[in-house]
Amino acid sequence: MPADDPAATGPVRINPSILAADFARMADELARIANADFVHVDVMDNHFVPNLTFGPQMVGRIQETSPVPLDVHLMIDEPERWAPGYAELGAASVTFHLEAAAEPVALARRLRSLGSRAGVAVKPGTSAESLYDVLDEFDQILVMTVEPGFGGQSFMPETMPKLRALAAEARRRGSDVWLQVDGGIGESTIAEAAAAGADTFVAGSAVFGAAHPDRAIEALRTTAHRHHHRRARA
Ligand code: DX5
Ligand code: ZN
Repeated sequence: MPADDPAATGPVRINPSILAADFARMADELARIANADFVHVDVMDNHFVPNLTFGPQMVGRIQETSPVPLDVHLMIDEPERWAPGYAELGAASVTFHLEAAAEPVALARRLRSLGSRAGVAVKPGTSAESLYDVLDEFDQILVMTVEPGFGGQSFMPETMPKLRALAAEARRRGSDVWLQVDGGIGESTIAEAAAAGADTFVAGSAVFGAAHPDRAIEALRTTAHRHHHRRARA
């Protein structure tokens, strides 16, 4: 499925987070989610967030191994220094945090010039309005629905007004930016996020914790599709 063609991925996307996968069996875990739209890869540096995962070398191998394109989520300081490397290794999408970026617009342009989609993420405490100046420079906005750093946390419904505000702003501008949610997304929360305007859903535990990750992906996709209506209202 070509990740660079939004139409090909349909109205909603399900991106399993490999933070919830078995790292010692990564190739097998990737094969179990071959029906996903993207693989969500959480890079953490123990500075921007209090946790540490993996860096460019590991992500490079995942890129070579994965049957589906990579959606890299950088929870790191100094994204200007590191983000272009993930685009260069072939990631289809690279998202960095607004709170960590000195020059978000310049970085978005650099990522796009390297052939990647550019994404910007905001933590629960960061407002929708802080994105309005930069929104047109991005292909994806990631509204964190937990505090970044760990998988398996509970979805924060108080982030939904921000998502609705961003969806309305995107609609007003005629923007086709993707609205992604990440954190605590599963069968009991995906409908609320879809109804608030999300079209791209990260799910870690809900996919890799299931007996059949491929079936979990399809079930999430069906529920999200049923509740998503941002485009219909445009
Ligand atoms: C959290 C990460 C998420 C995490 C989601 O900081 O950005 O991508 O893997 O995991 P679940 O779906 O289990 O909340
Ligand atoms: Zn993430």
